[in-house]
Amino acid sequence: MKTLKISMQFLLLFAVLFLSVQCKGKAEKEGTKQTENAMKSQKASLAISQEDFGKLPTGESIQKYTMTNANGMVVSVINYGGIITHLEVPDKKGKIEDVVLGFDSLEGYLTPAPYFGALIGRYGNRIADGKFSLDGTQYTLAQNDGQNHLHGGNKGFDKVVWEITKITNAESIALQLHYLSEDMEEGYPGNLNTTVTYTLTNDNTLKVKYEATTDKKTVVNLTQHSYFNLSGDFSKGILDHEISINADTFLPVDETLIPTGEFKEVAGTPFDFKQAKTIGKQINEDTEQLKRGLGYDHCWVLNSEAQGLSLAATAYDPESGRYMEVLTTEPGIQFYSGNFLDGTLKSKSGGTYAKRSGFCLETQHYPDSPNQEDFPSVVLNPDETYISETIFKFSVK
Ligand code: BGC
Repeated sequence: MKTLKISMQFLLLFAVLFLSVQCKGKAEKEGTKQTENAMKSQKASLAISQEDFGKLPTGESIQKYTMTNANGMVVSVINYGGIITHLEVPDKKGKIEDVVLGFDSLEGYLTPAPYFGALIGRYGNRIADGKFSLDGTQYTLAQNDGQNHLHGGNKGFDKVVWEITKITNAESIALQLHYLSEDMEEGYPGNLNTTVTYTLTNDNTLKVKYEATTDKKTVVNLTQHSYFNLSGDFSKGILDHEISINADTFLPVDETLIPTGEFKEVAGTPFDFKQAKTIGKQINEDTEQLKRGLGYDHCWVLNSEAQGLSLAATAYDPESGRYMEVLTTEPGIQFYSGNFLDGTLKSKSGGTYAKRSGFCLETQHYPDSPNQEDFPSVVLNPDETYISETIFKFSVK
């Protein structure tokens, strides 16, 4: 009897042990399954698609590449000008809307447009009188903005066809754009081998990385020219957006928007954005600098705390709650309040783009640096690599 009792106890213990091992195995399997599924859906939610976007007059086909992340954020880029045609992000209620000015078809970008969403090179911003010298040789560039050179000339990087490679990683997706700008193209010396990578991650961050090498001493200053309207409604102006710029000084300009060379303290001027304030708050103040720019169209000298990426500016639309942070490795940022938009260009949503319906935050070296000795150098030598990085991070408040 006693032996029977003991063997029953053993049997019971064995059964319990067996069952618990079984359950553990099942749970572990379930766990692995869940992780696998999560990884699968993470991959599935980061996707790149491609479609036709029309043809250039030369017959060359233009493609639109669309990157989408897990939150439904969308970034569309075309191989003409490396232009960001659509950038869709959620508002505080989760509504996903387009926040960059642009056009629905290629034709819009082929008629003279103010660099909507484009990559700008070889030199973002102005070079006085379209001239600069390197080692005693003077180079002459197109004077395509009055007497000055603007955004790389008549056929800058915004109007060339880039070669695009799609990149898919576990945590991010990217479009890598490549363009070889030949020696003396638009008057600039050196074959400039240029790569720009747009990377999208699931934390609603778009990273833009610029890299370039040359075979002859040259100057480079690349940037991205998206016009933002965080309301998602292009019929609304941007004067209610709150902007902050991490800068103690800015660069005053002459009548032709070339920096005078002075570094002016922002304190006590309408150019003080150290604390966020609406674009509209002081834009119409009666000051010479605002009159010259027809509003804000100046370069701020960033307080870069450290080497690498640091916070340059923020933009916030209180109504939609959309918030954008701009981080960069560059020493300057051009804040342009869309003053030259005049209601003649047709918007994606049916209306037109009115004055101040979009603003730009263009990270860059200072305008006219090739002619201004006190500005950080924009010279690129054959043994060097130009590297610049900017991050646009979207969230809601
Ligand atoms: C400049 C403006 C110019 C605009 C081109 C901006 O980067 O600062 O002065 O009008 O580009 O549309």
